[in-house]
Amino acid sequence: MIDTKNEIINKKELISLAIESSCDETAAAVLVNGRKVLSNIISTQIETHKKFGGVVPEVASRKHIENIDIVVDEALSEANITFDDLDFISVTYGPGLVGALLVGLSYAKALAFSLGVPLVGVNHIEGHLSANYIEHKDLEPPFLTLIVSGGHTNLVEVKNYCEYNILGGTRDDASGEAFDKISRALGLGYPGGPIIQKISEKGNNEAIDFPRAYLNEGYDFSFSGLKSSVLNYINNKKMKNEEIIVEDVAASFQEAVVDVLANKAIHAAKEKSYKTITLSGGVAANKRLREKLSELGKENNIDIKYPPIVLCTDNAAMIGCAGYYNYINGKRDNMKLNAVPNLKL
Ligand code: KG4
Ligand code: ZN
Repeated sequence: MIDTKNEIINKKELISLAIESSCDETAAAVLVNGRKVLSNIISTQIETHKKFGGVVPEVASRKHIENIDIVVDEALSEANITFDDLDFISVTYGPGLVGALLVGLSYAKALAFSLGVPLVGVNHIEGHLSANYIEHKDLEPPFLTLIVSGGHTNLVEVKNYCEYNILGGTRDDASGEAFDKISRALGLGYPGGPIIQKISEKGNNEAIDFPRAYLNEGYDFSFSGLKSSVLNYINNKKMKNEEIIVEDVAASFQEAVVDVLANKAIHAAKEKSYKTITLSGGVAANKRLREKLSELGKENNIDIKYPPIVLCTDNAAMIGCAGYYNYINGKRDNMKLNAVPNLKL
């Protein structure tokens, strides 16, 4: 529900503009405080990068330059506010593609400088996990979160707002990256996650017993063994001139990824006595992952929360939410803020 400008101003709440350009989505959002989203505009470049089978960094940067002004204008107009109403600006400064990050960052810096309002640099991963605050208004730390995206796979203890303890991460490929690579190997295209999910619905997820890397029940993840196993399976079939049932390969692969992610998250929550697990990042859009984690959550009396799909994949509302909590924690950045492509949480 979008409030009118006067209603917002009368409440004297903090209004912020958030900007996200770390990969192939140019996005801008307007928020009131951290959890109320007045607009969330996303211009995706998927169609442009599809023909290359993945994101081409230079093309992404050029597209961000073309789109950013339009996206910001749309975010303001949908929120029914003007630049003068802004109290601060949040912007992603990493991790991501450096050229892509620099577009949003430079834009945000110029805007903050000209308006004379504070600038808050936001970690994209913190943005992803914050998407749950927008959807679940009562959600408060502490809780455990599983962040699964194209670039990251992390199990994190959220001790408080802006206070994290990383339990584990991926030792090789991120979960989304694995979806994208297997999709390419099966000739299904980019981005792999949604395509594999769709085709898996017609397949048997027990057809092929692909390996699950539990790494002795620790909190780290590894998907490269699974990836090699799927690629070997495909190559063997091709060499023997045998038919590959793509639906079965996709479903069995997806099940192996989902099994590891869901079981590890539940195991960590039990060991650390968390009663809530939140799921976030592009792979959190996966229907089977949501289903499996929810099933295991029910069995173990752990509450499972995830954002709507639009807040799972890259967007600026999540950046605005993380930016707000950083802002009220006193974080301020200046004109020297640079893009940090390998920024950690
Ligand atoms: O969070 P995100 O939009 O960008 C990064 O920060 O990386 O995540 C993109 C990733 C891609 O690898 C994409 O294949 C995956 O999320 N993804 C999915 C689904 N939708 C997007 N993976 C599995 N199932 C989905 N439904
Ligand atoms: Zn992301």
